[in-house]
Amino acid sequence: MDEQDIYSVIGEDGFRRLVAAFYQQVAQDDVLRPMYPDDDLAGAEERLFDFLVFRFGGPPRSLERRGHPRLRMRHAPFPIDRLARDRWVQCMGRALEQANLPQDVETKLREFFEATATFLINRPEQPPASELRSPEQ
Ligand code: HEM
Repeated sequence: MDEQDIYSVIGEDGFRRLVAAFYQQVAQDDVLRPMYPDDDLAGAEERLFDFLVFRFGGPPRSLERRGHPRLRMRHAPFPIDRLARDRWVQCMGRALEQANLPQDVETKLREFFEATATFLINRPEQPPASELRSPEQ
């Protein structure tokens, strides 16, 4: 299946179920929740929904409302390290299970989310303590 066909297979309804389940997870996550707006989780849900619909072959509402995705740039204000990336992927993984999508769609979306989340890491790993010592020590 081509990525661009996903919208025609699961429709708005499938993406709705997915993002609703995802933000229910985010609301309970101690690493992710503080990064999202205090009083506007519904707005964040809407922005992710519009983006996914557009990215996977549906109407380009996201382009009209928010312009080009520029995901790296838009995530620059948030401290995304490996832990935050893994939590995001974990929340989305649970949401994918709950949304009950066709298996091939689920697999494609999972691959996309994992790769994109890795691409959005913007904080270097802490070097191991052994590398923090100066050479003389
Ligand atoms: C890696 C871990 C990630 C973290 C910690 C994270 C965090 C955030 C936060 C805090 C926001 C602002 C919420 C808002 O719109 O008000 C946001 C926006 C957004 N994120 Fe992520 N995100 C992550 C990964 C991803 C991935 C993998 C995608 C791609 C599917 C994505 C797509 C988006 C989109 C489309 C927006 C809205 C951009 C806009 O219109 O301004 N994010 N993210």
